[in-house]
Amino acid sequence: MLELRNISLHYDGLTQWLYKGFSICFDKDCYALIGRSGCGKSSLLRMMDDVPRTKGEHRSGTVTLDGKKLVIGHDVVMVFQDYPLYYWLNVERNAKFGVHTAADGEWIDSLAERLDIKDHYKKRCGPFAGQISGGQQQRVAVLQAMSFRPKVLLLDEPTSALDEHNTLILARVLREYGEDNTVICVTHDDVFLKELGAKHINLGEESVRIRA
Ligand SMILES: Nc1ncnc2c1ncn2[C@@H]1O[C@H](COP(=O)(O)OP(=O)(O)O)[C@@H](O)[C@H]1O
Ligand SMILES: [Mg+2]
Repeated sequence: MLELRNISLHYDGLTQWLYKGFSICFDKDCYALIGRSGCGKSSLLRMMDDVPRTKGEHRSGTVTLDGKKLVIGHDVVMVFQDYPLYYWLNVERNAKFGVHTAADGEWIDSLAERLDIKDHYKKRCGPFAGQISGGQQQRVAVLQAMSFRPKVLLLDEPTSALDEHNTLILARVLREYGEDNTVICVTHDDVFLKELGAKHINLGEESVRIRA
């Protein structure tokens, strides 16, 4: 179980704390963090991924997986909103970046096939090459994160560049992954949410985030 305990978060310049004394647990399942823009969804994901603090950021609290501190890149991997890829590697090597075994390589091949990425394996990634589209890059970024087989997979707006067809396929892929792992998405995409069958956590209400 992923447990966030007594989380507090504040940025200089905000008139009040974004989170104060916030605690929540996540099982092996799919979850969607929802709520109005600016309510703190991405910030909470970044805390779970232990992304280094920015200047003026104040955070405290604990994040544990089965009672232990998470190892980034092993227990937890995050797909950021701007999903940077390694432009000097081709699509296949980006998608399989975290693969350690032949079986895992075949597993990524099968997911790439479903996500319509396998035919593009030999192309280059990144803004300079321009050989694959934004939507394809987004799917490669998700494959790359999954290739590490993290117990906790975090995704920030993972369907922002996808059409409905690919949104539905991605939702099914993640739903399957969430049967044995914890998948947490920030999303506003209703088509995606419905197909993912995720548990909703509404962070829009201040009373949820701030405990007196
Ligand atoms: N590094 C930062 N420095 C200062 N303020 C920030 C920083 N990151 C986010 N914020 C502020 O914190 C609030 C929550 O941001 P964020 O978590 O990105 O919201 P959401 O993902 O729900 O749209 C916003 O008001 C945003 O402007
Ligand atoms: Mg956000």
